[in-house]
Amino acid sequence: MLKDRLGRPLKDIRISVTDRCNFRCFFCMPKDRKIEFLPRREILSFEEIARVVRIARGLGVRKVRITGGEPLIRSRIEELIRMLRDTGVEDVALTTNGYLLLEKAESLKKAGLKRITVSLPTLREERFRYMAGRDVSLRKVIEGIEEARSVGLEPVKVNTVVVRGFNEDEIPEIAEFCRERGLVLRFIEFMDVGTLNGWSLDKVFPAEEILRALRTRYDLEEVGREDPSETSINFRYRDLDLTVGIIASVTMPFCGNCSRLRISADGKVFTCLFASEGFDLKGLIRGGATDEEIADFLMRVWGSREDRYSEMRWELITRRTKKVEMFRVGG
Ligand code: GTP
Ligand code: 5AD
Ligand code: SF4
Ligand code: SF4
Repeated sequence: MLKDRLGRPLKDIRISVTDRCNFRCFFCMPKDRKIEFLPRREILSFEEIARVVRIARGLGVRKVRITGGEPLIRSRIEELIRMLRDTGVEDVALTTNGYLLLEKAESLKKAGLKRITVSLPTLREERFRYMAGRDVSLRKVIEGIEEARSVGLEPVKVNTVVVRGFNEDEIPEIAEFCRERGLVLRFIEFMDVGTLNGWSLDKVFPAEEILRALRTRYDLEEVGREDPSETSINFRYRDLDLTVGIIASVTMPFCGNCSRLRISADGKVFTCLFASEGFDLKGLIRGGATDEEIADFLMRVWGSREDRYSEMRWELITRRTKKVEMFRVGG
């Protein structure tokens, strides 16, 4: 198994298939910021992506997650899923804002998608529009989630980023919504990812407080992480066969077992969500590299990896002025 400098194996690849999005969430891509999107020719083709995944599988990668921007706005995304499934990789998952899920869930399932994660930071229409920076309907996302369940994309996970002053008052409500539907919910602490979202520590609603809010309503047993590289610490409801998790990158960093490699839509390889620069994989592919050369490149990049931004946040936060945006490397 391929290990980095800190002994962490490479198990997981996240691939951003587009940097574009139909939302402008204030914590990711605020609507008042001007963003330059990639021209079409710079974006990896499905063939290029599938080739990389096939090679990475040979290096021990078992999970592939498709992200964005918003991956469902990339046309014929189902075709990519089919191609990834054909590489033989064990697990193919996708993270979406859910807006196009109602129309796409069935074709995604048919193409071989195993699981899906939907972002849902609020259950109030007005807040939802404020969050998304667009005149979009929350109802449509909820219908998309129901459709994903009914076509059997199980488990459906829900990601709720919590930003103090925006949605911390909805924690029990969102938990109840997910309990009623058997959805695996994870709350995410607001992170200082990228440079556009105006992050500050006082906007972080910490894991401890999230847990306190949950415990006012539910009896929870801590079950920890299923796999050491998992992002969330999980809790089981004592009255239901379901878990709820907290992804606490700020107050309880989890770099120690981070096994994730990210590939941006324009084919750069990032070894951390908070990295400044990526390594140019696309140049190598389009320059005619053989499979062995690509495998070698990935081995070199992973082999020299030392990132642990979240664990060193307070040392790095003022020093690292250049950081990749989340919509370029995906969640
Ligand atoms: P599965 O275990 O495959 O379900 O994936 P996951 O638990 O990593 O879920 P998902 O991809 O939905 O990630 C959840 C969220 O956690 C992401 O949207 C990010 O906000 C955050 N996250 C994921 N990976 C990392 C990471 O490596 N570092 C940090 N700091 N945050 C991460
Ligand atoms: N902090 C935490 N989570 C974030 N997300 C987007 N930006 C941030 C941030 N700054 C979440 C989205 C989605 C996932 C891809 O990442 O809400 O659930
Ligand atoms: Fe929101 Fe996700 Fe789009 Fe960013 S990529 S603006 S978090 S929906
Ligand atoms: Fe992995 Fe970087 Fe996140 Fe730490 S901060 S868990 S190294 S992606």
